[in-house]
Amino acid sequence: MSRSAHPAGPRHADVLPEGHYSAPAADLNALDEKVWSRTVTRDADGALTVGGITVARLAEGFGTPAYFLDESDFRARCRAWADAFGPDADVFYAGKAFLSRAVVRWLTEEGLNLDVCSGGELTTALDAGMPAERIAFHGNNKTVAEIERAVAAGVGRIVLDSFQEIVRVAHIAQRHGVRQRVQIRVTVGVEAHTHEFIATAHEDQKFGIALADGQAAEAVRRALSLDGLDLIGVHSHIGSQIFDMAGFEVSARRVVQLLAEIRDEHGVELPEIDLGGGLGIAYTSDDDPREPHEIAKALSDIVTRECEAAKLRTPRISVEPGRAIVGPTAFTLYEVGTIKPLEGLRTYVSVDGGMSDNIRTALYDAEYSVALVSRTSDAEPMLVRVVGKHCESGDIVVKDAFLPADLAPGDLIAVPATGAYCRSMASNYNHALRPPVVAVRDGEARVIVRRETEEDLLRLDVG
Ligand code: LLP
Repeated sequence: MSRSAHPAGPRHADVLPEGHYSAPAADLNALDEKVWSRTVTRDADGALTVGGITVARLAEGFGTPAYFLDESDFRARCRAWADAFGPDADVFYAGKAFLSRAVVRWLTEEGLNLDVCSGGELTTALDAGMPAERIAFHGNNKTVAEIERAVAAGVGRIVLDSFQEIVRVAHIAQRHGVRQRVQIRVTVGVEAHTHEFIATAHEDQKFGIALADGQAAEAVRRALSLDGLDLIGVHSHIGSQIFDMAGFEVSARRVVQLLAEIRDEHGVELPEIDLGGGLGIAYTSDDDPREPHEIAKALSDIVTRECEAAKLRTPRISVEPGRAIVGPTAFTLYEVGTIKPLEGLRTYVSVDGGMSDNIRTALYDAEYSVALVSRTSDAEPMLVRVVGKHCESGDIVVKDAFLPADLAPGDLIAVPATGAYCRSMASNYNHALRPPVVAVRDGEARVIVRRETEEDLLRLDVG
């Protein structure tokens, strides 16, 4: 395809329209290691490579759009989390971020546990050989059939999310002649957002059982009274893409208070607490995530301190990072299709995917970075909005970013940090075909989730 010059959009900071963006990077060819997976680099010709393979070869071999997942980075992050928390704590990877059989095998090999939240995730985990005792089963409305399967498989824990479920799981466990290990998910009255937390009197959302009005204490009473249940602890998950540890601090304090109340009322010291996931990653250079060892130390310090104050034995801690493990390990590769400069506004760059492979921008106003990756360029920065090919004006992949002004149809651009909640939330909107996930490692690339085909679409459409 031609690389002919075309009129570029606004270029300089003094003519930028309103929006949220940092000034263009001094060097648009530079790859900020905060947002790219660890083996990403540019080769001598300026093309981006991952796992030693250039994007041109990847695009040729697997097409675009496609997600490329840096397997050694994924494994390294698993190990970093496991090492940071050590043998006295448990790390459960949250499968909702992205799950496939290959991922389950990597997790199994790297010694992580797995949080699943649906029958489909449970099937994938068991099919790929994750030992059932390393699986935690979540969800605010697990079906009876799902609970049956989880109990029959012998999952390590079911996280109870309602009064109905306490009874359901107890009955099913009894029918199977087992005592099911369970935790109770409590809502601690902390709602955490990206950079802040808001302490609320009581929670107005669907998850968990509220601490504030004594509901959680009542749930504990009921769970302790039922023979089919082995109550091992309390669970709290406060939100997503959190950088500030203050929300976790409040949450840990309130969970430990509940453990102390349980001890006082029932004479039982529950052995575990789960503080959930939600740890933030860098989507743009403005984000500064913490390292797993800092997070582990902060959480364990908080829990130890609170337990000492309450004269409780320190419980075993578990955490459930999803995004923080898989998020930074993948990027989405797109081919530029059309380019529309809008005078005085910005340049719209359309790619061959969009909201069907990344709904996060439309849904959460999420911010992403983008880079020209098939080559380098010395052209000046051009303010762009990267949009998809869907029939929807909100079909935006990257709202505000800078790309070189000589960008042309046929160029490959990549959006980093799309490992979490992109493929797992992908859709067939406009009968789009969901892209493949390709694992890249040591010069080899292999499809771990294949691209959907039109045959797949027609197979479901039974007329
Ligand atoms: N544990 C529980 C109980 C959760 O509900 C979640 C996420 C996690 C762990 C993992 O959270 P993470 O470490 O991945 O942030 N679709 C949204 C995120 C929804 C998260 C739902 N629960 C997004 O794209 O940002």
